[in-house]
This record gives sequence, structure tokens and C-alpha cells, in this order.
Amino acid sequence: MSTELNRMVDEATRAFTNATTMKELKLAKTTHVAENSPVALANRSIAELPKEDRKSAGQAIGAARSQISAAYAQREAELEVVELEARLAGEKVDVTLPASLRPQGALHPVTRLFYDLTDVFVAMGWEVMEGPEAEAEWLNFDALNFTPDHPSRFMSDTLFVDPPENHLVMRTHTSPVQMRTLLTRDLPVYIVVPGKTYRADEYDATHLPVFHQLEGLAVDKGLSMADLKGTLDHLARAMFGSETRTRLRPHYFPFTEPSAEIDIDCFICHGESVGNPDQPCRTCKSEGWIEWGGCGVVNPRVLAAAGIDTNVYSGFAFGMGVDRTVMFRHGASDLRDFAEGDVRFSRQLSGGSR
Ligand code: DAH
Repeated sequence: MSTELNRMVDEATRAFTNATTMKELKLAKTTHVAENSPVALANRSIAELPKEDRKSAGQAIGAARSQISAAYAQREAELEVVELEARLAGEKVDVTLPASLRPQGALHPVTRLFYDLTDVFVAMGWEVMEGPEAEAEWLNFDALNFTPDHPSRFMSDTLFVDPPENHLVMRTHTSPVQMRTLLTRDLPVYIVVPGKTYRADEYDATHLPVFHQLEGLAVDKGLSMADLKGTLDHLARAMFGSETRTRLRPHYFPFTEPSAEIDIDCFICHGESVGNPDQPCRTCKSEGWIEWGGCGVVNPRVLAAAGIDTNVYSGFAFGMGVDRTVMFRHGASDLRDFAEGDVRFSRQLSGGSR
């Protein structure tokens, strides 16, 4: 019996050692450990032995089985290492191989400029806010002190969302976010709002029905026109260079009083084309100044509509066309390029992806 058991152990151990893969090892296990293996059969035959021999036979078979399992476990551990090493060797990456580059897209120049503009304000501690493009007519107009008969409300300028009784418009400017902010936030408020705006305009070289604005609003104790001018000067210099000058021209907006339009001096000709037909300037049309946006001191009526005590708080606001800014910053001449989605245009104007 014991010689036979020794033989079984030897054979099983040899079979395990000879196995060079996990698959072979599993197969050897079936032959030498499983139900019909010699040790399993021997185990079952114990019942046929005379009673007094059963205990020692059981012990001997048990010992043989544990030797076989130990041999199996040892080979299994060895093969796991071998297989892992083989797999790692197979998966080795040659980092010196040339990469296969896929053509990359680019940020739209408007997106790119939004990042640059908002960075200037975030650096001063302002917050970036957004609002919905389909906006309540009340927020787009009434809350901003537009009279019910103000011309820009009429269907010809404003895109109303069907049905008109819902009084929902595609916002004609980013200014409604001023009121949204005042109604939901504690004072003081310093925000800029980049966003899309809509008007029933022609689609041509100088007009887009969907365009972009950057809105700004500051409401705090003691703010004045001087703070507005300082802020816009800083923005203009950050965008167009440290020599840039700005000027405010009186204007009218319902939601600011006093109101102004802001111009920047032409960074191409610096005014040299003015009255000088030999050296015309395309960028400023030989006017020396470029119209940039609207601004002013927030009309107390707007603050009052938001429930703000106008004896304590005042503010300033501004809004500029971002597509226009890209145009004169980069010398783009046709606004339709902004909507056509040609990646070469984006690459050229925004300097690739970010
Ligand atoms: N919302 C104005 C427009 O679309 C621009 C504007 C003017 C915004 C004056 C302002 C402002 O915040 O104070 O033409």
C-alpha cells in the first residue's frame, strides 16, 4: 500500500512539474487529484478494508493527498510567476516609438476670448455668472427700465419664442443676468457674464443673428463712474496692450444713468489715419477710435426693482460685443467666418487648442 501511495505521489508531482502552463497544470490536477484519480480511488477503497486496517490506511492516504496538494500548490505558484512575467514582457510599451498624432480641433476664437476676458476679472476677484438664453421678457426688458413701447422690443428686433403670450424671448443682450444676480445674491456683487445673444438681424459680413457679449456688473457701497472708467481702462490695457487709451462718449441706455459708449483708441494707426487720406486705416475706418461697448452707472430704478436701498448702494455696468472684439483684435473682416465652423479659422485666430 505505502509503495503504491509513494508512486502516486511521485507521479502526481512529476506531472505537475512537467506542466509548463496553467492549462497543463489544471489537466494534471484532473488526472491526479480529482474524483477518479488513483488517490481518490484508494480513499474510496478504505471502506472495503477490514475494520482494524482502516485507520492506518486512512492516515497514509490522507498524508499522500496532502503531499499531492502541496506539490500542486507549489507548481501553481511557480507558474503564476512565469505567466505574469510573460504577460508583462508582452505588454511592454516602447515609449520611444513615434506617436500617431490625430488632427486636433481648436477653441473657437470667441471661446478663447471669453477665457481671456473673464481671466482679467477673476484676477480682480470678480465672479463669472451665466444665465439662460431663452429669457423672460420681463428680465430682458422691463426690469431693466425699458418702457413698454421701447423700439427694441418689437418683433422686428427681438426673437420671441412661440407662443408670444408666454413672454419668452431669446435674450437680446446679456444684461438680464444683471437682474437675475441682484435678485438672488447678497451684496456686494462683482460679476462678469459671458454669453450668447440673439437679434433678428441679417446674416452678413457685419451682422450675426447669434452673437456674443460680455456683461459686467458691480454693486457696492460708494461706486461711481470713476470706478467704471478705471475698470474698463484696466480691461482695455489687458486686452490691447498697456498703451491703450479709452474714451467715454455720452449715450443712452434705459438701465444706466448716466450712460456712455466706450471707445478704444485704434491700436493699428493710433489716430494717424485721421484726416490723412494717404494712410487710411481699415480697423478704425480712419476715425482713430473703435467703438467697443456700452456702459454706465446702474440706474437706481434697476436697483430699486431688485429691492436694493439706493441710498446705500450704487453700481456700474458695461457690456461689449465679443465677436467685434475678436474682429478688431485679430483683423478678421467677415463675421460669417465666426459661424461657419471651419477649424482653420479657429486655429488661426485662437492659436490652437487649450
Ligand atoms: N445691453 C447693451 C446692448 O446690448 C449693452 C450695455 C450697455 C450693457 C450699457 C450694459 C450697460 O451693462 O451698462 O447694447
